[in-house]
Amino acid sequence: MDELIKNGFVNKPVDKSLDLVAEIEKLKKEKNAIILGHFYQLPEIQDISDFLGDSLALSQQAAKTNADIIVFAGVHFMAETAKLLCPDKKVLLPDLNAGCSLADSCPATEFKKFKEKYPDHLVISYINTTNEIKALSDIICTSSNAVEIVNSLAKNQKIIFAPDKNLGSYINKLTGRNMIVWPGACHVHKRFSVERIVVLKKEFPDAKIIAHPECEMDVLIMADHIGSTSSLLKFTQTDDSKNYIIATEAGVLHQMKIKNPQKNFIPAPPDDATCACNDCSFMKLITLEKVYNTLKYEVPEIVISEEMQVKALLPVKRMLEISEKLAL
Ligand code: 13P
Ligand code: SF4
Repeated sequence: MDELIKNGFVNKPVDKSLDLVAEIEKLKKEKNAIILGHFYQLPEIQDISDFLGDSLALSQQAAKTNADIIVFAGVHFMAETAKLLCPDKKVLLPDLNAGCSLADSCPATEFKKFKEKYPDHLVISYINTTNEIKALSDIICTSSNAVEIVNSLAKNQKIIFAPDKNLGSYINKLTGRNMIVWPGACHVHKRFSVERIVVLKKEFPDAKIIAHPECEMDVLIMADHIGSTSSLLKFTQTDDSKNYIIATEAGVLHQMKIKNPQKNFIPAPPDDATCACNDCSFMKLITLEKVYNTLKYEVPEIVISEEMQVKALLPVKRMLEISEKLAL
């Protein structure tokens, strides 16, 4: 089957006359497959997903599915986490190039040396990491549970937090801790422009600013609400404003508009007016054609070595256990 994959995905032309949505539905039923989709996916991918969620909800869903095949409409670390949690299931990622700049900002060899400088520290890593980094970590967290996981540890516990410096600083601020933070960042979230958000806010003075904690602190300081993608979506459904400025990847606006058709959502502008930098280029690699080919040929598949399976799963399991205890 590997010969079908060229440049990271099944590069076979799809018959233009096919109704891809109907074909995908048919293949899902035939093969007892589900599509787990992230909120940053293209609207048409969100629309065919069986379950949409943030990183925590997607891993919780993967852990409990009865499907034989999981097609992950998201990025590599998310599919890898699903495979860790369901080693007996086939986990497919429609394009292996769907990586993550934040995960890439923390190479395992350098992180290992960094960790050795702080032998008495516990390592908490954000789920946006490779399995190699997970294997070097004690507990994994997501933006949904990071603050609660840190708060669940003894006050005097020394902690290294990796790889997102913005999320790390935000947790330090909220918990009063002094975690040592690895200096990684996401190429989308570090680029929102405070100056241009201020201009937008003058135009829409009643607008609420809502932001993902991967944003820089100067953006977070302006925000009326900070949270994971699910939390931002929920806020738009419970808050009674008319206008919102959204400081996270623009894909999340699709669900916000579906859930709140009467409201107005404005993507926070990036620092370069000429680029679409608030789109995650990795997330947007997943297309209907690739999902169709992936379901049809059952590749590319996520494969994890036995050694990594044991080492990287442990801190993910700890996260799920703590989250369950805290009802997150
Ligand atoms: P969430 O877990 O909040 O969905 O975030 C995932 C992510 O990659 C943010 O950039
Ligand atoms: Fe990674 Fe940033 Fe894309 Fe999220 S938005 S998947 S952190 S590159």
